[in-house]
Amino acid sequence: MIQWQELYADFFQNQRCLITGGAGFIGSHLAEALLTLGAQVVVLDDLSGGEKGNLQFYFNDPGRYPGTLEFVESSILEIPTLEGAVKDCRFVFHQAAIPSVPRSIEHPRLFHDVNVTGTLNVLEAARQNGVQRITFAASSSAYGDSPTLPKVESMPPRCKSPYAANKLAGEQMLRAYADSYDIDAASLRYFNIFGPRQNANSVYSGVIAILCTRLIGGLPVTVHGEEFSRDFTYVANAVHANLLAARNETPLNGEVINVACGIRVTILELAQTIASLLGREDLEPAVGPARAGDVKDSLADLNLAKELLGYEPIVGFEQGLKATLDWYQTVLKTQNA
Ligand SMILES: NC(=O)c1ccc[n+]([C@@H]2O[C@H](COP(=O)([O-])OP(=O)(O)OC[C@H]3O[C@@H](n4cnc5c(N)ncnc54)[C@H](O)[C@@H]3O)[C@@H](O)[C@H]2O)c1
Repeated sequence: MIQWQELYADFFQNQRCLITGGAGFIGSHLAEALLTLGAQVVVLDDLSGGEKGNLQFYFNDPGRYPGTLEFVESSILEIPTLEGAVKDCRFVFHQAAIPSVPRSIEHPRLFHDVNVTGTLNVLEAARQNGVQRITFAASSSAYGDSPTLPKVESMPPRCKSPYAANKLAGEQMLRAYADSYDIDAASLRYFNIFGPRQNANSVYSGVIAILCTRLIGGLPVTVHGEEFSRDFTYVANAVHANLLAARNETPLNGEVINVACGIRVTILELAQTIASLLGREDLEPAVGPARAGDVKDSLADLNLAKELLGYEPIVGFEQGLKATLDWYQTVLKTQNA
């Protein structure tokens, strides 16, 4: 759908890039874009949350891509393998993490190990191997439940979960590395990323993945918190922000930058839009009480992203939603065939 070549020409051609967590939802889209652009991609993933199937677009037909992909099944906690994977890489896109807020409340130590110590391992491996720049998958959860909208990067963070605290720690570590060593860095605070390949089968899945699969199956859905809203962001926009950050001509100095679509949609509108795209307006969502701990509203200010990276969303909410719904329909049809 995206003409990456028109946006990046030959900038990434033959560039060796490591994507940690590249067999996950966002990482696999980043891999696909980089392969289209002729990069030498190394994916390191322990498959704890992602799956190799997310990279089948390449392994089924490697000749389709000008780039190459090497898959390393390992954890970012395995330092020797990590060092091998990062060798000769110019860019590192650090996406690996355990991404669930509720699970982090149940398992704070596990989350700290993977999301904080793991990030330290990636930073160390990167700087010791002469990586030029690292981008980090940070999270809008760092803003907590402050009612102020839109969320601006200069607002004080307010972590409501160990996961949010892990991500904030990662941002600070990237900034410290950019200040202390000869490596540049940027933290990209993603806001509710959605799109094809997002896992809909986990209890921790994104709301769009869950709503699409249930409504396609003709199942009733419940929206928790009628007026709750989110800045839903199609995955290609997160990929674009990573590529812009990697290509940036001037140092980013560990800057923290929002990545979003810049519009706010209520969860109720979202469910109604999906039902209507499916021609199933009869599946009117039920409205349940808000869930404890859920932030009411979220919306990003994108001025810094525009100023520093020249970032603007390349796929709007509705266009992204249609593409996502198409993908779930195809996958579910194949599974049921
Ligand atoms: N999806 C969102 O809306 C969102 C929002 C904010 C931040 N993020 C961050 O973006 C990144 C990607 O998220 P995603 O939605 O694609 O999730 P995902 O679970 O699909 O991807 C994460 C990947 O990391 C891998 N991983 C986990 N632990 C690992 C380890 N120890 N070593 C190596 N690999 C490991 C998993 O197997 C998985 O493939 C994560 O860091 C997440 O915290 C996502």
